Amino acid sequence: MNTLIATIAAYLVGSISFAVVMSRAFGLSDPRTYGSKNPGATNVLRSGSKKAAIATLVGDAAKGWLAVWLAVHFGPQFGLEEGGIALVAIAVFLGHLWPVFFRFVGGKGVATALGVLLGINVWLGLATLATWLIVAYAFRYSSLAALVAAVFAPFYYGLLFGADEILFAVAAMSILLLYRHGNNIANLMAGKESKIGSKAAAAK
Ligand code: G3P
Repeated sequence: MNTLIATIAAYLVGSISFAVVMSRAFGLSDPRTYGSKNPGATNVLRSGSKKAAIATLVGDAAKGWLAVWLAVHFGPQFGLEEGGIALVAIAVFLGHLWPVFFRFVGGKGVATALGVLLGINVWLGLATLATWLIVAYAFRYSSLAALVAAVFAPFYYGLLFGADEILFAVAAMSILLLYRHGNNIANLMAGKESKIGSKAAAAK
């Protein structure tokens, strides 16, 4: 029962779209109306507001981190086992992708996945973040960096902790993240993907 409550609570927390919330707070257009139309930090950056983009990144990562951190540190007291922690991790991520508060139109999950990974283990999160930063610095594509980091994350987990239910959750998150980047993959292959720092027309 407690596992079910924790899973539903994680899904609801994940359903808070910080791209939409922060854009409203900063007086910007809805990120679902410009650029890639994705409610995520990368697209909010196309509005020209670095502060709103950072606030989105921090908010979306924090919700993933908080849900998993609470499950890891307090879950066992309430009977939450490893499988329950894996469910919480997946649920907060699914909330971001298909949020109940935004007609199930959510983001691609990069910042939330980072938060989830940091909540599972700080070194796992940092290794994945370092992968993102290296690829982003080298190629200037946020999506490519996310794709490469998503491929590496389950391997980092496996190396650190071996195969268990949480590895299954991390791998499932990576597969969903790749799936949500279908348009980005097509744009990258066609040479049409926009680079970090390029702004969207009429974003303000
Ligand atoms: O954060 C998602 C990123 O990987 C791609 O975003 O807006 O370029 O589709 P976007």
